[in-house]
Amino acid sequence: MQTCQILGSGHAVPERILTNADLEQMVDTNDAWIVERSGIRQRHIAEPGSSLSDFAADAVNQALERAHTAAQDIDLIIVGTVSGDMKFPAMACLLQEKIGATKAAAFDISAACSGFLYALHLAKSLMQTCAYQRVLVVAAEMLSSMVNWEDRNTCVLFGDGAGAVVLGPAADGRGILSSTIHSDGHYSNLLYNPAGSRHVLSAEDIDNNLATIHMQGREVFRHAVSSMTSALNEALEQAGLGAGDLDFVIPHQANIRIIEAIAKRFKVPEGKIIINVERFGNTSAASIPIALNEAIQDGTIKKGDVVGLTTFGAGLTWAASIIRI
Ligand SMILES: CC(C)(COP(=O)(O)OP(=O)(O)OC[C@H]1O[C@@H](n2cnc3c(N)ncnc32)[C@H](O)[C@@H]1OP(=O)(O)O)[C@@H](O)C(=O)NCCC(=O)NCCS
Repeated sequence: MQTCQILGSGHAVPERILTNADLEQMVDTNDAWIVERSGIRQRHIAEPGSSLSDFAADAVNQALERAHTAAQDIDLIIVGTVSGDMKFPAMACLLQEKIGATKAAAFDISAACSGFLYALHLAKSLMQTCAYQRVLVVAAEMLSSMVNWEDRNTCVLFGDGAGAVVLGPAADGRGILSSTIHSDGHYSNLLYNPAGSRHVLSAEDIDNNLATIHMQGREVFRHAVSSMTSALNEALEQAGLGAGDLDFVIPHQANIRIIEAIAKRFKVPEGKIIINVERFGNTSAASIPIALNEAIQDGTIKKGDVVGLTTFGAGLTWAASIIRI
């Protein structure tokens, strides 16, 4: 069955940088602790009042240009996000208007940090079954809008940003060779934001920071390593490849210790595992497409390279994909 390939990619982050030194002025933390436990040195944080769909549009326009594709030719837009501009309509629809993708169908999917690989999996399936020719897969997050800036356990970890790819029919052996998605709602209590229809928040709830990210960090860490490992193994098997066939691995950029654990399990040599967590923090769904685009643009990842992508996030959700670029 026909699969699809990445024709172009892009990413965008807010200009404002929040360093660990800045955070030292906000909560009881310090640079040494943050670097040792997470590997993060800075993150980009949107100015209040800015729109995530603007960053997403910036990333998409880069991807369209590199793919030599006009927005009017896009058939479908899928956005992975849990922090869209509004509760509804979908951010994909707001993005559609901003970029002028007039004929596209557009919707969001909610899979937290797994959003990009979930969207990619779905895009691939829909291209196979609905004969779409050009599909935009976007992942964009502004988790700064739901971080409790008084909670040192979480506020040091997250950053804002957007990444995008344009997909078209595969050729020359390139394309998405395999993909897999998983979830286990039993662990939904490990990482969540309770704001929703079940809790219509009062002003007091908001003052008490209820509408923010709640996380059991150690438990999440434990699941992260095992789920990302099993998903990548499954995707490799589906593609008929072994770990030794991977030219690069891009794990979700949540924490350097998680990334190093993945590198060790797959025996990925230094330089073959793409890492940018120190500059962006955890940008949730956007982390993989940002890292992928950076590595393509700086020439690290080249046409024909086999890249393993693996992620996990709230839900819990987890996913992986093997792509020949
Ligand atoms: C959050 C995380 C970095 C914490 O590291 P950890 O080694 O598990 O640390 P712990 O939570 O056990 O906390 C150890 C101590 O550091 C303290 N601490 C927590 N955050 C701190 C901070 N920012 N600065 C200084 N100290 C901090 C804790 O209060 C605790 O102190 P105590 O021993 O006096 O109680 C780590 O658990 C992690 O990365 N988990 C995965 C999170 C993640 O990836 N989430 C996104 C999923 S997509």
